[in-house]
Amino acid sequence: MVTKESFRAAVAHFATGVTIITTIDDEGVPHAMTANSFTSVCLEPPVVLVCVAHGTHTHGYLERAGRYGVNILRQEQEELGVYFAKRPEDRVGDVDYSYGTSDGGAPSLDNAMVFFDCKVVGSHVYGDHTIFLGEVEEIRQNDASTPLMFYRSRWYNPATE
Ligand SMILES: Cc1cc2nc3c(=O)[nH]c(=O)nc-3n(C[C@H](O)[C@H](O)[C@H](O)COP(=O)(O)O)c2cc1C
Repeated sequence: MVTKESFRAAVAHFATGVTIITTIDDEGVPHAMTANSFTSVCLEPPVVLVCVAHGTHTHGYLERAGRYGVNILRQEQEELGVYFAKRPEDRVGDVDYSYGTSDGGAPSLDNAMVFFDCKVVGSHVYGDHTIFLGEVEEIRQNDASTPLMFYRSRWYNPATE
């Protein structure tokens, strides 16, 4: 039988990069959460997806804003990955970050490796998550560096492990 625990442990073997999904809250303020469910969907048109749990704040904000940013983190940005994986009320401490704004209106995280500005063009509710398809309307790329990775429920650096 596939239990929640065995499923979680098995999918944890799939090594991923780490993104921060940004959107705008109901007051127009940038909101962010850590996500590794990001993937590209198709080239024409350029579309990506992210799966967002219904229990997150991001879910409602993103649904209402109809727009999101995907910010791929660098290896040195683990602190941001940890910070934005906490619920907003637990995000305490001195974590250094700032936002810019894309032409489309999604917040971009300054110094992320790559930023995609996405307009929601489709969504699919399944179980406790919604898959949000986003058409990429702008890409910003910083200089090349090593991506932050996540593997077996841990932050991971293939160069040092
Ligand atoms: C490495 C990592 C990846 C995550 N990926 C996702 C994801 O793809 N989708 C999701 O809904 N939550 C994901 N989470 C959990 C959210 O970051 C977490 O629930 C966060 O507190 C949500 O913030 P919010 O309630 O402010 O939106 C991930 C957490 C970690 C540490």
